[in-house]
Amino acid sequence: MKSFTLIIGAVAASIWTVSSTTIAEINGNRFISPLNGQNVTNVTGLVTAKGPAGIFLRSTKPDKDSTTSESIYVFNGTNRVSPTITVGDIVMVDGTVSEFRSQSTYVFSTEIDKSHNIRVVSSGNKVKPLVIGQDTTKPPTKQFSFYDDGDVFGLPNDVANLSAANPKLQPTKFGMDFWESLTGELVTVKSPAAITKPNSFGDTWVTGTWPVTGRNARGGLTMTDGDANPEAIIIGTPLDGTDNPDSTVVGDKLEDITGVVQAVFGYYYILPLTALKVSKHKNPAEPDPASFKAGKTCSGLTFGQYNVENLTPTVAHLNPVASHIVNFLNSPTLMFLQEIQDDNGATDNGVVDANTTLATLVNAIKAAGGPAYSFVDIDPINDQDGGQPGGNIRIAYLYQSNVIQLHNLNPGNATQANEVLPGPELKYNPGLIDPLNTAAWQSSRKPLAAAWETVDGKNVFFTIDVHLTSKDGSSSIEGDPRPPINQGVQQRQNQAEVTAAFVADILTEDSKASVITAGDFNEFAFVQPLETFVSKSGLFDLDEVVGRDPKERYTYIFDMNCQQLDHMFVSKSLRSGSKYEHIHVNTWTTAAGQASDHDPSVAKLNVCKK
Ligand SMILES: *[C@@H]1O[C@H](CO)[C@@H](O)[C@H](O)[C@H]1NC(C)=O
Ligand SMILES: *[C@@H]1O[C@H](CO)[C@@H](O)[C@H](O)[C@H]1NC(C)=O
Ligand SMILES: *[C@@H]1O[C@H](CO)[C@@H](O)[C@H](O)[C@H]1NC(C)=O
Ligand SMILES: *[C@@H]1O[C@H](CO)[C@@H](O)[C@H](O)[C@H]1NC(C)=O
Ligand SMILES: *[C@@H]1O[C@H](CO)[C@@H](O)[C@H](O)[C@H]1NC(C)=O
Ligand SMILES: *[C@@H]1O[C@H](CO)[C@@H](O)[C@H](O)[C@H]1NC(C)=O
Repeated sequence: MKSFTLIIGAVAASIWTVSSTTIAEINGNRFISPLNGQNVTNVTGLVTAKGPAGIFLRSTKPDKDSTTSESIYVFNGTNRVSPTITVGDIVMVDGTVSEFRSQSTYVFSTEIDKSHNIRVVSSGNKVKPLVIGQDTTKPPTKQFSFYDDGDVFGLPNDVANLSAANPKLQPTKFGMDFWESLTGELVTVKSPAAITKPNSFGDTWVTGTWPVTGRNARGGLTMTDGDANPEAIIIGTPLDGTDNPDSTVVGDKLEDITGVVQAVFGYYYILPLTALKVSKHKNPAEPDPASFKAGKTCSGLTFGQYNVENLTPTVAHLNPVASHIVNFLNSPTLMFLQEIQDDNGATDNGVVDANTTLATLVNAIKAAGGPAYSFVDIDPINDQDGGQPGGNIRIAYLYQSNVIQLHNLNPGNATQANEVLPGPELKYNPGLIDPLNTAAWQSSRKPLAAAWETVDGKNVFFTIDVHLTSKDGSSSIEGDPRPPINQGVQQRQNQAEVTAAFVADILTEDSKASVITAGDFNEFAFVQPLETFVSKSGLFDLDEVVGRDPKERYTYIFDMNCQQLDHMFVSKSLRSGSKYEHIHVNTWTTAAGQASDHDPSVAKLNVCKK
C-alpha cells in the first residue's frame, strides 16, 4: 500500500513539473528548498495575505504531506506589490526560488523572488486560516531540533547548521520542524496568552490553546532542564503597518491572532494581519513583597540579590531599585549587588570609583524608609571588566552595620588575589578571587569574597558575590547553528571552576562554615558551568533546598522563556530552616515599568555558629 502511494505521488509530481511547479514541491520536506536557485513558472496559489513587500500564496494543488508547507511568500520589495492583487485572488506567478536570511546564524526563509508575470486566475475566493493545533498537528513542547541531541543547552554547541544538514522535517517531534512546515501559511492562534512583555519592536511571544509545558503561576512559560518551550511563537509587526501595544505583560489574555508564519530575524514568527489586542490584563500588576523580614540576630539574617542594571548616581531607575529593596525585599541585612557603575556612568574618562553611585543608592533607600546601609566594593582597573563601555560595572555589597560587620577588615585591591587561610580566614577582606586569571576573568567581573561577623563577633560567615560573563552574542534558540551557540559558556565554565575551588577551600578548612554564593551567573542551573559549580564547590542550590517548583524558578525573561540567571548557593550548614523567594517586580511589568532586566531575590538564613 505504501509503495503504491509513493508511485502515484511520483507520477503526480512529474505531471506538475511539466506544466508548473507546486508550492509543496518548492518547499520540499526539509528546511532548504530542493529547487533553491531555480526558476519556476505558473506557480498557482490563493492570495491569503499581503505584506508591505510581498504576498503570501496558498497552493491550490495541495499534497497530502504534512511536512511540506502548502504556502509560500512571494517577495517583491517594499512598495512594489501590485495594488491590483487582492486577498482572495487565485494567481499564477513566475519567479526564482530563493532562500533568504538577513544574518548568517538565522534559519533561511524559502521564498519566490524576482516575481513577474503575475496573472489573476480568479477573484473573490474564500480565505480560511488554519487554526494552530486544530487544523494542524500540535506544536512539540520540548525539543527544537534533531541536532540539539535532546538538550538545546548541551555542549559542545554549534556542531551542525540546519541549513547544511538539511534534515527531513519531523513536525510532530521538533518545534522548529513544526513551524518550518507551516512557513508562509495563514494561521490563527485561538485564545492567545502573552508569555512575555514586548521587545522594543512590539514583538510579543504567545501560546494558544494547544498543550504547553512549563506554565508558571503567572502565565509565562519557564524553561526547565531539557525543555525550552518551542511550542511558543513570537508575534511580529502587523502586516497592515500598525504597531503592537507596548503595555502587554506576561499572562495577559489577547484576542485571537491571525497572521502568516515566517522565518525572520532568527525566529519563526507570526506576522499578524492587524495589531495585537489585549482582552484582559493580568492582575495584580505587582507581586507580593517577600513573606519574611530580617531578624537582628544570627538566626534570622536576610540576604538580597539584585542585578541593578548599569546603576549610576543619576539613572531614573535608581529610586525604583531603592524602593524594591525596601518595600519588596524588606531591607535585607546584606545585599549582593551587580552592575554598579562608576560615579559618572558610561562616561569613559578614567573614573573607576563608585562611591557616589553607592552613596546615592544608600540615601535613596533611606529616603524610601529603609535602614542606613553601609557599602563596600573594590574598584576595577579602568575598562577591564566588560559591560557597558566606560561604565566600569562591578559587584558591591550593602550591609546593615548595626547587625553585621566585616570580620578582620583588610580590603584587597583590583590585582590582589584573595586566599583562604587557616581558620578559615580570608587574606583580604573583602578581596577578589584570582583577578589576574585571564582565562577566567578577561573582560569580566571578578567575584568579591568577604568574611562577616555579627556585631557581637561571635558568628562568622562568608559571602561570594558573582557576576559571570554574559550570553551576549549567543545565536538564536531557533537559529541555524545547533545546539545554539551559548556565547561565553567556556569562560563561564572557567569562572565556575575558579569560584568553586575558592569555596571548596573554605569548606576544607571548616566543613560547617556558613558560605553564601549569590549573584548573576548568566547561566541556568542545568547547564554545565553551574552543574560544575555545585559539584566542585560543595554548595547547594537554594531553590533545590527550599523545594521550589522548577516552573517558579525565574528572574529574567528572554525569548519565550521565563528563566533563571540569578542564583544563590549555600553551604550544608545553612540549609536547615532556610527561606528563599524570587520577587518578580521586573519580569511581571512592562519594559517601561521595570527598574532592571533582572528580578531580585531574597533569602533568610541561620548563620549562627554551628
Ligand atoms: C504556464 O501556463 C501557460 C498557460 O497559462 C502555458 O501556456 C504555459 O505552457 C505554462 N508554462 C509551463 C512552463 O508550464
Ligand atoms: C532564471 O531566469 C532569469 C531571467 O529570466 C535568467 O536570467 C536566469 O538565468 C534564470 N536562472 C536559471 C537558474 O535558469
Ligand atoms: C512585483 O513587481 C513587478 C514590477 O513592479 C510587478 O510587475 C509584479 O506584479 C509585482 N509582483 C507582485 C507579486 O506584486
Ligand atoms: C555554520 O555556518 C556558519 C555560517 O555560514 C559557518 O561559519 C559555521 O562554520 C557553520 N558551522 C558548522 C558547524 O558547520
Ligand atoms: C569610598 O567609600 C568607602 C566606604 O565608605 C571609603 O572607605 C573610601 O575611602 C571611599 N573612597 C573614596 C575615594 O572616597
Ligand atoms: C594593589 O596593591 C599592591 C600592594 O600595595 C600594589 O603593588 C598594586 O599596584 C595595587 N594594585 C592596584 C591595581 O592598585
